[in-house]
Amino acid sequence: MYIDSHAHIQLSQFNSDRDAVLKRAHAAEISTILVIGFDLETSLGAVELAEKHKNLYATVGMHPHDAKDLTPDVLKTFRDLLSHPKVIALGEIGLDYYRNLSPRAVQKEAFEKQLNLAEEMGMPIIVHNRDAYMDILPILETRQGKIQGVLHCFTGDVELMHRSAEIGFHIGIGGIVTYPSAKDMQAVAMEIPSERLLIETDCPWLAPQFRRGKRNEPAYVRAVAEKIAELRNISVEAIGKMTTHNFNSLFITD
Ligand code: NI
Repeated sequence: MYIDSHAHIQLSQFNSDRDAVLKRAHAAEISTILVIGFDLETSLGAVELAEKHKNLYATVGMHPHDAKDLTPDVLKTFRDLLSHPKVIALGEIGLDYYRNLSPRAVQKEAFEKQLNLAEEMGMPIIVHNRDAYMDILPILETRQGKIQGVLHCFTGDVELMHRSAEIGFHIGIGGIVTYPSAKDMQAVAMEIPSERLLIETDCPWLAPQFRRGKRNEPAYVRAVAEKIAELRNISVEAIGKMTTHNFNSLFITD
């Protein structure tokens, strides 16, 4: 069995065939899907979807792109939702210095406020990073032992991966690892400590090589598992078992 630890199947890209997408995931032995919110609307959508399906869980949080929208009211809504039985993490939160859709100071403030909330509620976090590890890692290092989570769609180098693993963070690997040119990410995927590896799609984006440029979906997390298995020279079933175990120990899903 396999778990897609990062999917956005609440989005409208799945409105016409969501049930078929879930059926294909089931047929591909995807046992669990974590539906990730990134603003108020998509967080509420994730929770609503997770309420309808036993094997779906949800996260709530404000993405750095929309950091300016993290009003006290929204933060209060997130706080309330974190007590919902199907909500198992806060995120995706973080910093994005590539697109800079919110000013960096505003992004940092929203990130810190949500880290405080996660710490207070004892919830793991889903971290989004783009070109911002130099700021994200020191922030997380100051909270070492108080917050756990996953660096989703990890794109750093081997050294940054080890630093993140050392402070207790999991590393999420997605479809990019299957691209022939992604040699740096493949090097990282080979070296991630077994107890820190998670697999994800980030669908509808970042489809693996065989569907590159098309809509991604949870069933394709198998292609990610297969590539990592090949790189680490172990069976794909072993990757499934390892990443399922890691998911269940990070996020309490019962
Ligand atoms: Ni995402």
